[in-house]
Amino acid sequence: MFQKILVAVDDSPAARRAVTCARKMAKLTGAQVILVHAYPKIPDYLGEPNLSQTIARHLERAEALVQPLADELKAEGLDVITEILEGPPADAILRVADARDVDLIVMGARGLGSVASLLLGSVSQKVLAHATCPVMVVREEAEL
Ligand SMILES: Nc1ncnc2c1ncn2[C@@H]1O[C@H](COP(=O)(O)OP(=O)(O)O)[C@@H](O)[C@H]1O
Ligand SMILES: [Mg+2]
Repeated sequence: MFQKILVAVDDSPAARRAVTCARKMAKLTGAQVILVHAYPKIPDYLGEPNLSQTIARHLERAEALVQPLADELKAEGLDVITEILEGPPADAILRVADARDVDLIVMGARGLGSVASLLLGSVSQKVLAHATCPVMVVREEAEL
């Protein structure tokens, strides 16, 4: 049914749960899992060596988030790839979904944003509005 499942992660409980859902579906379908994380664009005006140092720090943080999740999925025998991109998260998710022709996007309803009253965060809203494949939006357990 699904051959490629994209799961979008920040460091939030809802995204954590999205990974669990993607894992279960990938187990059932044999789909490849594509873990995506975007880090903020670093302004060029920072200049060297600050620019390179800041990018390195972001990449390190992104790896520390994504790698343990990838390892966890791989330990289940799943085929996993990771994509770490710079720039606005929704654009990154939509870009990877398009480039890799994914069948499903799994993501959290909310992320790390602070507007607790919002039902959907801005990233999930934008992905839902523009994705050309089905999108599964997962709420963190505490909210249920
Ligand atoms: N930087 C990011 N990289 C990849 N996915 C992200 C990123 N930020 C958010 N997401 C995905 O979007 C979901 C919703 O987050 P978001 O829309 O940013 O909500 P909030 O406004 O509460 O931060 C997250 O659970 C995660 O799945
Ligand atoms: Mg957010």
